[in-house]
Amino acid sequence: MTKKNIGAVLALYPCPVIVVGAMVNGKPTWTLAAHAGTVAHSHLMVSLVQAHYINKGIRETKKLSINIVDESWLKEADLMGTISGNNEDKSAAFEWTMGENGAPLINNAKASIECETDGNYELEHFDQFMCKILATYADETVLNEQGKINYHEFKPVLFEFPTYEYFVTGDKVGNCGKMNQ
Ligand SMILES: Cc1cc2nc3c(=O)[nH]c(=O)nc-3n(C[C@H](O)[C@H](O)[C@H](O)COP(=O)(O)O)c2cc1C
Repeated sequence: MTKKNIGAVLALYPCPVIVVGAMVNGKPTWTLAAHAGTVAHSHLMVSLVQAHYINKGIRETKKLSINIVDESWLKEADLMGTISGNNEDKSAAFEWTMGENGAPLINNAKASIECETDGNYELEHFDQFMCKILATYADETVLNEQGKINYHEFKPVLFEFPTYEYFVTGDKVGNCGKMNQ
């Protein structure tokens, strides 16, 4: 084997970066997260340090939004990863709309997913919230004629932990399931 073992490190990158939204004490709050993903066709998982301010709101209301970041609002999103609601009120950071199910949605996000938590796998001071998808809101500009999100138009920002850099999704390299035809 020519590969070198670099240890038990995080390496599953780049991955999409999101801003999680939730209500705390009747006001919205926002937290940047990269450790999130799909765990079933019905559920997403978001991994958040238990000491984060937003966890209190998610635990209490069970409602959260997952706002997918694109380059047009990356600067504002990045700020939500450097300041904590434990020290500073972040409720006015974005213009927002209340989702149909009670989670605050960021107006600038071209795609927002509204969820309800129905499980929490606690591990090493992290809440792993299991998030049932209730609704998905997408801007008309990123929808194709079939009403689905067009990822040629919508370019989520990706993040990687080792060097703390952001990327965007790139070129199409194939058609799934047809690579051997
Ligand atoms: C690019 C980036 C990705 C992050 N991803 C996560 C994450 O997946 N989980 C997490 O708990 N914190 C993550 N953080 C850290 C939180 O966003 C940060 O500590 C934030 O200030 C917590 O806010 P809160 O206390 O108001 O909830 C990330 C930060 C950055 C800059």
